[in-house]
Amino acid sequence: MSVLNITGGPVSGTIRAHGAKNSVLPILAATLINKDVSIISNCPDLADVRSSIRILRHLGCKAEYSGCTVTVDSSDVTRADIPESLMREMRSSVIFLGAILARTGHANMSYPGGCELGTRPIDLHLNALKSMGAEFSEDGGNIECKASRLTGTEIILSFPSVGATENIMIAACAANGLTTIKNAAREPEIEDLQTFLRAMGADVSGAGTSTVYINGCMDKLHGANHRIMPDRIETATYLCAAAMAGGRIRIGDVVPEHNSAVLSALSETGCEITTERDVIELKRYKPLRPMRPIRTMPYPGFPTDAQSPIMAVCTRASGTTVFTENIFESRFRHVAELTRMGADIRVEGRVAVVCGVDRLYGARVKCEDLRGGAALVVAALGAEGVTTISHLTHIDRGYENLTEKLTSLGVNINRM
Ligand code: UD1
Repeated sequence: MSVLNITGGPVSGTIRAHGAKNSVLPILAATLINKDVSIISNCPDLADVRSSIRILRHLGCKAEYSGCTVTVDSSDVTRADIPESLMREMRSSVIFLGAILARTGHANMSYPGGCELGTRPIDLHLNALKSMGAEFSEDGGNIECKASRLTGTEIILSFPSVGATENIMIAACAANGLTTIKNAAREPEIEDLQTFLRAMGADVSGAGTSTVYINGCMDKLHGANHRIMPDRIETATYLCAAAMAGGRIRIGDVVPEHNSAVLSALSETGCEITTERDVIELKRYKPLRPMRPIRTMPYPGFPTDAQSPIMAVCTRASGTTVFTENIFESRFRHVAELTRMGADIRVEGRVAVVCGVDRLYGARVKCEDLRGGAALVVAALGAEGVTTISHLTHIDRGYENLTEKLTSLGVNINRM
């Protein structure tokens, strides 16, 4: 089992953000519906991207990954199922449901089930596809889905689910007529998906607002080239790392406005932040101050994915910060590990109260989930001595070249 050994200390240097994991996955799924060749660049080399490629190959597509570019030829799709082993590799495989159904008229996959963040139901995905004419049957944890032709309709989401919005957008491109999604998710990754769908000839508008319109035109779709947007959560994590460690970081290839909520929280701690068109620079030389309460919300609110890294920063602030996690029910699993390092955090349901301490100490800690693992890396940078972090498969799902990037910032880190 690999571990990371990290010694705390200030950072200094420049890195660039990789492409957004959460954008690559729906875009790779969407390549299924164009029956042509798509070239997707700026894809990070992450476990979930590799799993998506395996799913595309299993379905009969030709899919190659070379130098951050994934080329998908979806002229021949020979299957409509995702085996349980692939579903288990990546919970987000449900993002393929709408695309497989639209392309083949049926789909078969195992129910994604719960994960480390909680139960994570997919009722919004299924109900939306049902309202477009799909029929579902469930048997022993398997979902069988049929629709000879999907029909456009108005869908009002009871919660702006990112995955459900993406699944509906992809399926609706192949449906008869107009689909309108109300209370759609407004995350930047939804806009990136719209950009790709338009490049392949689809008639989609409204992404980035609460109402998305899709006019089905499956027969007009063709292959497209697309460059994946920067990963705003990777960016937020490195900003937290620099805030915690102290020193200076410049991150290039970013879209600063995607990180507005995180930047405003970090500036409350005393960080000096400047932005240019595609660069964020953060300097922190003074002691950390606490933040006003952090409530995770759908975009443009504070992102749940950045909650744990920024909580790690608050453990060393000169006062108390209150966190309310509104998106996922079990997203405080990093708290027990931070406590092992000397943090003072109390959790009551969806609320965590973080009382800043003067010191954190290096300890042996374990990643419990992807962003919780990132929080441990951030905490290690502000701790005295060496922190040893295990169960790195979680971190590897979201951060390409983490060790190399931190080394280039002057961090004493090694992976064994
Ligand atoms: C996506 C992101 C994830 C991020 C999350 C929220 C990807 C691959 N993952 O996950 O990193 O943390 O958005 O920004 O893009 N829900 C239901 N029923 C459903 C669907 C969702 O109850 O059918 C609930 C979920 O349990 C959760 C909330 O809605 O409590 C948000 O989920 P959703 O926005 O769908 O997140 P994902 O798309 O899974």
